[in-house]
Amino acid sequence: MAGGRARVAASILDADLSNLGHAVRRAERAGADRIHLDVMDGHFVPNLTFGARTIASLRRHTELPFDAHLMISEPGRFLDEFLDAGCDSITFHVEVDAETIEPTLRRIHVAGRAAGLSVRPATPLASLEPYRSLLDIVLVMTVEPGFGGQTFMKDVAKAKILAARDYLGHRPIGGEVQVDGGVNRETAEIVGGLGADILVVGSALWIKGHDMAREIRLVKVLADEGYQYELNEGRPPDPRDRWFAFGRLPHAFAKRLAAEFDRARIPVIVLRGDGRINPDGVRDYDVLIPTEAETIAAERFATAREALEAEADAWRRSFEIAGD
Ligand code: DX5
Ligand code: ZN
Repeated sequence: MAGGRARVAASILDADLSNLGHAVRRAERAGADRIHLDVMDGHFVPNLTFGARTIASLRRHTELPFDAHLMISEPGRFLDEFLDAGCDSITFHVEVDAETIEPTLRRIHVAGRAAGLSVRPATPLASLEPYRSLLDIVLVMTVEPGFGGQTFMKDVAKAKILAARDYLGHRPIGGEVQVDGGVNRETAEIVGGLGADILVVGSALWIKGHDMAREIRLVKVLADEGYQYELNEGRPPDPRDRWFAFGRLPHAFAKRLAAEFDRARIPVIVLRGDGRINPDGVRDYDVLIPTEAETIAAERFATAREALEAEADAWRRSFEIAGD
């Protein structure tokens, strides 16, 4: 589905477990943005689901990103298997043995995947403090982990979802607050209004006779409306996939501006556009960044842009002098 801010990760926990390949294909067709994989070990939570081998088998059934949510006591011990299985992101719980948390987060990064920590409803967000700079994802649980189909904990949502953003300050664009548990058409507006990026939806997708595509559309639209009226002064959110030209510069200068964004881990593309033609015969290039980064860019990169524009002007003038 085009546009919009909120993304839905379909949890297959409550799908027909005898045919998970079909379940992920169905979720993809219905417009899910991700597949959310709930791994339970019967120890960290009082339930058992599936492991890395199942995920590896599912990998060839869909192109959608795989978000693994490990509700297991020893994520570090099994990490390589989940990486090999093709998980795009791996989130585990901050309640596991503290010694193992930082090395596990680092290993996930070394493998080039996104790393996340999750907090049970009773665990304060402050427990994430030591790992701040290592987090790409904060997953806020709004039910007790272990089972699908439980009731959304509204108080937990209000206390944590908006506040979770604080732990992603080093990743102004691309860091994700994910919300998991009891998210459906009844609760999506609240969740969106608290700024969640990814809504994990489980049991609501697998109700017999329900149209899954409609359920996903409703959750996204309601989440975006929540965001619009609670956090965005009534304006519809910027679609995630919209880009704009923050700068138009000769190629070499455009690349230097892009390097600044790169260092700040803000996505950036340098693209040939329809900018002015320079004395060397090559047009200015566009430096494109996501529309949602507009405010940050204006605050943090306007000075760099001006400096490069001045340099580019001097460079253009040098041709005139040479030509005289
Ligand atoms: C619960 C899992 C959730 C669960 C969500 O332990 O982490 O991902 O599948 O299911 P619903 O949407 O039914 O709460
Ligand atoms: Zn989950």
